[in-house]
Amino acid sequence: MKQLKRERVFDLLKGDTRHLLENEINVKGWVRTRRGNKNVAFIALNDGSLIHSIQVVVDVKAFDNDELLRKITTGACISVNGKLVESQGKGQNVEIQALNIEVYGEADPEKYPLQKKGHTLEFLREIAHLRPRTNTFGAVLRLRHALSFAIHKFFNDNGFYYLHTPIITGSDAEGAGAMFRVTTLNLKDIPRTKEGEVDYSRDFFGKETNLTVSGQLEGELGALALSNIYTFGPTFRAENSNTSRHLSEFWMIEPEMAFYDITDNMDLAEAFLKYLISYLLENCEDDLLFLQKLYDEGLIDRLRHICDNTFERLTYTEAIEILEASGQKFEFPVSWGVDLQSEHERYLVEKHFRKPVILTDYPRDIKAFYMKLNDDGKTVRAMDVLFPKIGEIIGGSQREEDYEKLFGRIKEMGIHEEDVWWYLETRRFGTAPHSGFGLGFERLMLFVTGMGNIRDVIPFPRTPQNAEF
Ligand code: 4AD
Ligand code: MG
Repeated sequence: MKQLKRERVFDLLKGDTRHLLENEINVKGWVRTRRGNKNVAFIALNDGSLIHSIQVVVDVKAFDNDELLRKITTGACISVNGKLVESQGKGQNVEIQALNIEVYGEADPEKYPLQKKGHTLEFLREIAHLRPRTNTFGAVLRLRHALSFAIHKFFNDNGFYYLHTPIITGSDAEGAGAMFRVTTLNLKDIPRTKEGEVDYSRDFFGKETNLTVSGQLEGELGALALSNIYTFGPTFRAENSNTSRHLSEFWMIEPEMAFYDITDNMDLAEAFLKYLISYLLENCEDDLLFLQKLYDEGLIDRLRHICDNTFERLTYTEAIEILEASGQKFEFPVSWGVDLQSEHERYLVEKHFRKPVILTDYPRDIKAFYMKLNDDGKTVRAMDVLFPKIGEIIGGSQREEDYEKLFGRIKEMGIHEEDVWWYLETRRFGTAPHSGFGLGFERLMLFVTGMGNIRDVIPFPRTPQNAEF
């Protein structure tokens, strides 16, 4: 077969193809469908560069290669040389009249799991190695890329530096205690101290280490030097929460800003979320339309609604009053001091305010040690951003910059000083007011795709009892 430069389907269907019309070109990709009759075959060919497939038309008689044509079934990978022509059919401007086809890889129709359309998302999770080849996951994965790109662009355009924080850590930033251990100790022959404890001095790092639950503490070290930084990396939580909004491995974006108070922090979070959603509306229309049609008819309206409305800001205490006065029957009863459940968050956002909500000033006892204590001594300068359908999408706070107060909180919560001495030193040397927050990347992906389960917005989800692919 003649060697020609490969054209991306994206460029053929979205770009200016005038210079290519009536010329012989090459496309490569996977067969989505094949239909037709004895005389003519129509192949929908997709290379993942966009949701749409290009139509390849084969004049079966003229082609005169039945054996080759038999191999062109759903899922097969082929390379096509053919003439690019204006399309007669509806739905596309151009199509390809095949001149030569090479089959790279067959996909036996009896065995290929994606032979038919309309598989459930649950079934697709069981074939996570193949599901990127579906239209749905093509759309999700392209949106994931666009969203990542927009995140970096937003921060770069606003003077933030991308800080790479470690994945293996010796500290527990959230105090949640649900961490994955990292060790090279032989589990069949664990070294012990004289007292019978595990002897971590013999472990790889000479101490106990874990996968990070958050890049924040190291992020603060960066902010107290570069002023504005952000992290964007994987984080790990070993909670056994099998919900549609929790992953054991998820990606988090954590900006941290010196000289920001909590209001600056809220302003940034709101501007950031609006920017990201507008970016997708402007740049990913085809994929959004596809997902809207298949999964969520209100999707694009809901995205626009976020961009067009000011987020409601109120304190935790005010929110509790609203919930108590609501007359709603909640599974988890509400009173001052309880941690809000997603049913409470969603009531505030979906029923009461009908727009995103930022709650501030939570009780100190349900929040992490690093949050700045308010003058009332009871609440901390926390802020959570709550979204429709999702609940909490961002968690953040102004940080306690006062050494004595922070030290007091560390003692109170039983955190070992020797684990966080380096963090404490930032408050001893050149401390500064500062703030930051963490955005759950997959929570935002859930929102922008309209998918119902967080396992369907990450290529290879890690959840309890599941790390196959
Ligand atoms: O509220 P979290 O636990 O906050 C922190 O980790 C802070 N260190 C952030 C900061 O201030 N720099 O987590 C932040 C966000 C949540 O709002 C949620 O969107 C997401 O991370 N998240 C999860 N996403 C998926 N699966 C999980 N198990 C998640 N846990 C938290
Ligand atoms: Mg939180």
